[in-house]
Amino acid sequence: MDEKDTIQYKAAELKSGESRESLLQEAESLRMQIRHHEYQYYVLDAPEISDGEYDALTNRLRAIEALYPDEVPPDSPTQRPGGYVAPGFTQVKHMVPMLSLGNVYNAGEMGDFDQRVRSLLPQGTEVSYVLEPKIDGLACSLIYENGWLVRAATRGDGEVGENVTANVRAIKAIPQRLRVPEGEETPELLDVRGEVYMSREAFLRLNEERVEAGETEFANPRNAAAGSLRQLDPAVTARRSLSFFAYYLMGPEEPETQEECLRNLEKYGFTTPEHWCVAHTKEEILRFIEEHDKRRRELAYDTDGAVAKVNAVWQQRLLGATGKDPRWAIAYKYPPEQARTKLEDIVIQVGRTGVLTPAAVLTPVKLSGSTVSRATLHNEDFILEKDIRIGDTVIINKAAEIIPEVLSVVRELRPESAVPFVMPKECPECGWAVARKEGEVAYRCTNPHCPALGREGLIHFASRDAMDIEGCGPAVIGQLLEAELIKTPADLYDLKEEQLLTLDRMGKKSADNLLKAIEKSKQQGLDKLLFALGIRHVGAKGGRLLALQYKTMDALMAASADELSAIKDIGAVIAESVVTWFANPLNRELVERLKKAGLNMEMQAQSVNENHPFYGKTLVFTGTMPTLDRATAQTMAQDAGAKVSGSVSKKTDYVIAGAEAGSKLEKARSLGVTVIDEAEFLRLLGNDGGETAAGQTGTEADGKTPPAQAGETDNAGQAETVSAVEEGNLFAGLE
Ligand code: IVH
Repeated sequence: MDEKDTIQYKAAELKSGESRESLLQEAESLRMQIRHHEYQYYVLDAPEISDGEYDALTNRLRAIEALYPDEVPPDSPTQRPGGYVAPGFTQVKHMVPMLSLGNVYNAGEMGDFDQRVRSLLPQGTEVSYVLEPKIDGLACSLIYENGWLVRAATRGDGEVGENVTANVRAIKAIPQRLRVPEGEETPELLDVRGEVYMSREAFLRLNEERVEAGETEFANPRNAAAGSLRQLDPAVTARRSLSFFAYYLMGPEEPETQEECLRNLEKYGFTTPEHWCVAHTKEEILRFIEEHDKRRRELAYDTDGAVAKVNAVWQQRLLGATGKDPRWAIAYKYPPEQARTKLEDIVIQVGRTGVLTPAAVLTPVKLSGSTVSRATLHNEDFILEKDIRIGDTVIINKAAEIIPEVLSVVRELRPESAVPFVMPKECPECGWAVARKEGEVAYRCTNPHCPALGREGLIHFASRDAMDIEGCGPAVIGQLLEAELIKTPADLYDLKEEQLLTLDRMGKKSADNLLKAIEKSKQQGLDKLLFALGIRHVGAKGGRLLALQYKTMDALMAASADELSAIKDIGAVIAESVVTWFANPLNRELVERLKKAGLNMEMQAQSVNENHPFYGKTLVFTGTMPTLDRATAQTMAQDAGAKVSGSVSKKTDYVIAGAEAGSKLEKARSLGVTVIDEAEFLRLLGNDGGETAAGQTGTEADGKTPPAQAGETDNAGQAETVSAVEEGNLFAGLE
C-alpha cells in the first residue's frame, strides 16, 4: 500500500478559490460524463475508461456536491445505485435490495471506517471483521425454493435486476439443487448472493476466439463475464466458462456471523472466496490487504480489492446502510496498475489464422513488478478510436493483470512528429494483399500459403492447451523452421537428438527433455489433437465435442457435414470447416503421418468422468422444459459424456420429457425407456457418482420437485455470429 499510488484519487479534493459557478458547472459536466460511462459499462459491457478513472470522476463529483448539498439534483449519479436493466431481459424485483459497497483507497481511510463502525456501536462492543477478496465480476442473486434454484438475477439498479435464470443454469459452480446434509431440513426460501466471474484463462481463450471470428475483444474478464451472462441466448453462456463465488446468504434462519454465513454456503455446495480471514484490529485488516495484494496476481481470476465486513450480524443490523452502501462493510480498492511510457513503434503480428494484430513497441517501463516493452493494440478500430500515434506518450495498464494494453494517450505530450497509424495494405510476412471483411474488425492476409500461418500453426500445435510439448515454444519453433528441420507438425515426431544439438543454445539435456516432451505428447488424445491441428473454428471445446461424439479420428474423418452439424454446439459453420479440412489431401497426409508416428487418435477416457450417470448414455429430449432451453440442456448432457439423439429407440437410455411431449414420450413408454423430467435430469447431472435414475426417482429427502417458474424469460434470440468458412490448411505453405 504505497501512499504515492493513491495520488490520482486526491484529484477529488477541491482547491480553494474555485468559484461556486464554475464548480456547479463542472458538477453538471461530471454527471453527464458519469452517466455516459455507466451506460458504456453496465449496458454495453464496453467501458471506455478504467475503474480508477471512473472512481476519480465520481469522487470529484461527490466532493463538489458536499459543498453545495442544495444543488444536488435527485437524478445525480451519486443519488442512486449505479447499474441498469438492459432491454431484452425480464425484470426481477429483488426480495431485499442488492446493496453496493463504499470504497476506500488507503490505510488512513480504512482506519476511518473502523473508527466509524466502533463509534456507531454501543460503547465497549467487541468488533471483529471478516476480510474477503473483492472478486472482479458481477453480482448475482440466486433464489432457491425448497432447495431448487428457481431464479437468478443480476444486480441491475439494486432494486430491480435482469432475469438471467436460464443463463445461470449453465454455470457449473452454481448448484441447481442445494446440498442439504442428511438430517437437516431444506430451507424453504434462500437468497444466495455472490459474484459471477470469468477466469483469466477463459477470458484469454474467449478473446482469441473472438479475434479469430473477427469480433471485438472484451476489455477484461469482468466485461467478458458480464457480456457472457447477459446473453439473450443461454446456449452462448453455456459455451463460455463462467464461475461463481458465493459470499452472502439470506433465509429464514439467519446466521449469526459472516463467518457462519460463509460456512453455510459451503455446506450447501457453493464455492466461497478462496482466501478469507477474521480480523479484530485495523492492523489485522491492513495485514490481510497487503497479503492479498501479494497473492492476487497468482490467482486464476481477477480481484480488484479486499472487502471488510463486520462479522456479527446483529451489529450489521444496527449499523444499517446509507443509500446504496452498507455502513458495516467497505471495499478497499487497490490502485490501478498503470504506467506512462513512450510508444516507439507499432508492429504487425500475423497469427495462425492470418489475422493481422497491431502491437505497441514501448520504451520499457516497470508495471506491477515486471518490465513491459510490448502492449496489445487489438485492431485498427481500437487505434483510430483512441487516436494512438507513433511517438505519443501513452498510459498502459494490465488488463486481466497479465496482458498489458494501451489505455489512452496523453495528448498534451504529443510531439509534432507523431505519426498516425495506417494499416499496411500488404502482409508483412509474405507481401500478399490484406483484406478486411465486412462486419469484421480484423484484417487478414489473403495468401493461403503465408509462412506466418505455418509458423504460428506449429506454435499453436505445441502449445499447452493443445499437444502440450514443454520446451517447444515460439523461439524453438522459429529455430527449427530456420534450420529447415520441420515444416509440419508431423516433422516434430521425426526429430533426432543430433539434429537438435545443431541448434543455438541447445545442449544435450535440453534436447533430451524436448524429445521426451514430444514423445509424451503422443498420448494427448483426440480432443487435444483436433484442437492442435488448427482446423478453423474448432477451438478447445469444439475439439472435445467432436472427440466425445466420434471417439476415433477415423470415425470423424468419415462423418458428413450434415452429421456433424447435428451435434449440438457444432453448427453448420464448424461442420463445413471440418469436412473441408479433411477433404484436403495435404491434411489427410498429415493425419496419416501423425498416426504412423504413434499419436493417440482416440478420445482419452479420463477427459470425462466415466462414473457420471450420463456417461456414454443416449439421451433424447422432448417437449418444453420448465426452465432449461433445449440447446443448454443438450450441451450440459454432452459435457457429461452423453450422446444426444433426436429419436427414441431401444438403445435410448433416458428420455427427458417436458410439457407437451408427444409421440417420442409415447414411444419411450411403449419401449420401457426410463423417462425423467427436468428436475431429475438436473439432479443426475449434478451427481458425479455412480447413481442411476431408476434407483433414485421419487426418493428425494423431502419428496419435492422444483417449483414452476414464474415469469421466466423466453430467451430465444440472437445466436452469435460466426464468420464465413474459408478453406484452411495451416501447413500447406510449408509443403
Ligand atoms: S459484499 C452488502 N463481498 O463488489 C454487501 N461484494 O463494489 C454487498 N464484490 O456489488 C456486497 N467481491 O458485486 C461483497 N467478497 C465480496 C465481493 C463483493 C466482489 C462486488 C459486488 C458488489 C461490488 C461493490
